[in-house]
Amino acid sequence: MLKIVVCVSGGGTNLQAILDAIDNGIITNTQVMAVVSNNAGAKALDRAKNHNIPGILMSPKAYSDRAAFDQAFTDKMVELNPDLIVLAGFLVKIPEQMVKKFSNRIVNIHPSLIPSFCGVGYYGLKVHEKVLERGAKLTGATVHFVNEGMDEGPIIAQKAVYVEQEDTPEVLQRRVMEEAEWILLPQAIDDIANGRIAVVDGKVRRV
Ligand code: GRF
Repeated sequence: MLKIVVCVSGGGTNLQAILDAIDNGIITNTQVMAVVSNNAGAKALDRAKNHNIPGILMSPKAYSDRAAFDQAFTDKMVELNPDLIVLAGFLVKIPEQMVKKFSNRIVNIHPSLIPSFCGVGYYGLKVHEKVLERGAKLTGATVHFVNEGMDEGPIIAQKAVYVEQEDTPEVLQRRVMEEAEWILLPQAIDDIANGRIAVVDGKVRRV
């Protein structure tokens, strides 16, 4: 049984997709042991509560400085000791010491086709604003392992989504979620839970 901790900051629709996929048997062999949020008002925490999953608040604002938060966050994860940490719309940079401790055990969902529209400053609605500004015709979502870089770890899965002429950032964000994110992230977790992927020479391979 793969024990996962899901980290969230806001609406938690990706968290909901994971919980639904577990309930529906799309993800097997997996249990969500806790949900971590940096934001006390995150709707995602209500979703966790409705599923009787413990919600844990870890906000940088509650610590004297970033180093203190980074250490406390890492210590909390070491204490929970999940098999996999899933970043599902989590807006806090993962501390380096945590990446080291959980090498190839942290995955993130990013709402574009990496390496396009990713890196510093590309988060949430901003990603979709930049896609529309550039006039790109195709976008999508990527699930990847987290390394020390920003959106740079080994890519697990990607799914493309068309951009439509009349899209607003909000409309495009919703389509990327519906057509890509909510499908891709549960699939990736199921693949990991059932030993279907491995990282070889910095790249993800199906095994
Ligand atoms: C998603 O688009 C995710 O890819 C991005 O932030 C959004 C989070 O949405 N990183 P939600 O909280 O899962 O609803």
